[in-house]
Amino acid sequence: MELSPIESRVIGVEIQNLDLAKPLDRETVAAINDALNRYLVLVIRGQRLCDPDLLAFSRHLGELDPPGPNPYGEPFLKDFPEINVISNVVEQGRPIGNLGAGEAAWHADMTYIDVPPKAAVLYALEIPVDGAGDTYFASMFAAYDALPPDLKLEIDGKVTVHDASRNSAGMLRRGYTEVTDVRETRGALHPLVRTDPRSGRKALFLGRRHNSYVTGMPVEDSENLLDRLWTHATQSGFTMRHRWRAGDVLIWNNPAVLHRRDPFDANSRRIMHRTQIKGVERIA
Ligand SMILES: [Fe+2]
Repeated sequence: MELSPIESRVIGVEIQNLDLAKPLDRETVAAINDALNRYLVLVIRGQRLCDPDLLAFSRHLGELDPPGPNPYGEPFLKDFPEINVISNVVEQGRPIGNLGAGEAAWHADMTYIDVPPKAAVLYALEIPVDGAGDTYFASMFAAYDALPPDLKLEIDGKVTVHDASRNSAGMLRRGYTEVTDVRETRGALHPLVRTDPRSGRKALFLGRRHNSYVTGMPVEDSENLLDRLWTHATQSGFTMRHRWRAGDVLIWNNPAVLHRRDPFDANSRRIMHRTQIKGVERIA
């Protein structure tokens, strides 16, 4: 495999000459994990994977983290419950996947649990002809590095609560009620500044803006601080944009980035198969 730079200078790399449908040797897997730690987002184009291929490859990155049941209480793919389907397509009156065609706001995946996922793998099977529905990633290392010194000092040691009540599409999860006071938000507590256990580099750790709260602060101060951090962290200088083609595989280092998605034409078809890799360490 070979690494080649992409447009963004702070995040992302394209991997070439790698066929994910073939068995991978130990060195290649180590190189992929290294690249994921260094570049945070890996773009691998031109793949042709069946679902067992996607699963076999994903297992090289760690233990799989199967999706929860869909609104119908069953996996989208009966034979492959470890795979999540991200799609707007409706067949026989029933969505074949999650998230629809709308925008997905900046977030990291599942930070409302104590040990959030290590990575996600997204494989594009069908992409709208106009190519819309781009995905964006922001490096939380770059965002932290560029903070003014007084702000770095201010957030040092602070902890936020990560709201568990809504999914990435903004839908209220079963068993949760609308949060009306952020001091009562339910979800995991994580430090605002994370230190990467491998490199020792510091990064912002924001998760999701909605219902986030810096514990112990007056609500207004917490809101102001979080707004400042979110505005800073999602500036284009820290981001990359991925324009999808069918056959693309994207892998992201979940705790180290934020990601978002553009909306696309609800009448076009977009189908992706996704796996998620379990985290192994708490955010610290
Ligand atoms: Fe996500």
